[in-house]
Amino acid sequence: MKTINVALIGYKFMGRAHSNAYRQAAAFFDLPAKPVLKVLVGRDQAAAQQVADQFGWEEVATDWRQVVERCDVDLIDIASPGKTHRDIALAAAQCGKHILCEKPLANTLEEAKAMWYAAEEANVVNMVNFNYRRTPAVALAKQMIEAGEIGEIRQWRSAYLQDWIIDPAFPLVWRLQSAISGSGALGDIGAHSLDLARYLVGEIEAVTSLTKTFITERPLATATTGLSATGGSTRGPVTVDDAAIWLAKFAGGAIGTFEATRMAPGRRNYNHFEISGSKGSLGFNFERMNELEFYRHDDPAGRQGWRTIQATEPSHPYVSAWWPAGHGLGYEHTFTHAVADLCKAIAEGGKASPDFADGAKTQAVLEAILRSAKSGAWEKTSMA
Ligand SMILES: NC(=O)c1ccc[n+]([C@@H]2O[C@H](COP(=O)([O-])OP(=O)(O)OC[C@H]3O[C@@H](n4cnc5c(N)ncnc54)[C@H](O)[C@@H]3O)[C@@H](O)[C@H]2O)c1
Repeated sequence: MKTINVALIGYKFMGRAHSNAYRQAAAFFDLPAKPVLKVLVGRDQAAAQQVADQFGWEEVATDWRQVVERCDVDLIDIASPGKTHRDIALAAAQCGKHILCEKPLANTLEEAKAMWYAAEEANVVNMVNFNYRRTPAVALAKQMIEAGEIGEIRQWRSAYLQDWIIDPAFPLVWRLQSAISGSGALGDIGAHSLDLARYLVGEIEAVTSLTKTFITERPLATATTGLSATGGSTRGPVTVDDAAIWLAKFAGGAIGTFEATRMAPGRRNYNHFEISGSKGSLGFNFERMNELEFYRHDDPAGRQGWRTIQATEPSHPYVSAWWPAGHGLGYEHTFTHAVADLCKAIAEGGKASPDFADGAKTQAVLEAILRSAKSGAWEKTSMA
């Protein structure tokens, strides 16, 4: 069997999620090439080594620049904060490496476009990890839309709600600093909703928005793990949005409302959307990720109502690789699906999806939303 040697940059939240995916992908999916956990890159060698030992990485390294140049590495996986994405991707493309990059693709449209053009020019397989597309229920929604089951799409409404920063004592982690993360709830979770909207409905051509920072100063972070952190006594300014809401006009004629917030008590990872079409509706909430809600307008009068499809049948996307119907999948499976699809694209010389062009188009909408939050006006999305 062919192999794909992977170098993964970042070993914390996404580092662990991606490490697990590389371990699982070839065991569950029939892949033309198997990922090899070659080198895990982290600035703190001892901490990276601990994760490397847990997941079975062959080596650790502290300098990504040396790693991207290695001839025994085929794929560079960027699982570090947004500020680092462009430089790593440009160097990787220059060395002819395939690239998987965490979302959002970059911190600005300019950076995202540079990454897209560099990957195209180098003719390397490139993918941005909007992993929620690869939830079986979401991929099923895509199939149903393409089969015309809800007719012409008229409205999109989404709310991506979290609550992990509601405590004012929660530290100023990198996600709350625009120089590292680009934006707040908007780019962190709103970007996922935008990707889903582009995937399921189509391109967005104009937006009008409102952003808000409720807690403007926080203790500096002394340590972070996943979405948890501890802080010290010194404080610093929050330079990103805590919440963002926006209206959107889709190029195909549909209209949309979006909300992204990390200030919704009780909502942990409530990534919700509902799509209204001329013949029916679809609804999804990641906190119940194995279910897809479906309403058909042509059901007999007196028998109409929302039904809940358990997206765990072998006929549903990705599911046949896993467990019998009804046994359910979790968050980590979305990453394994991404890695499986990426390995197929690399081995077969195909294209991955969503690719850097998609990442850049989502970035153009993020920028238009930020422009509108300042101007108070409708702003057209523009790739210029
Ligand atoms: N797809 C998803 O569902 C999802 C979820 C969470 C995060 N993300 C994305 O993944 C990326 C990483 O987020 P995270 O939650 O894993 O963050 P994290 O803070 O848990 O981990 C960041 C990692 O990057 C490393 N790092 C930071 N700066 C670096 C540099 N200059 N050089 C090398 N390594 C560096 C850190 O040491 C750490 O290992 C971000 O782009 C984020 O938006 C995606």
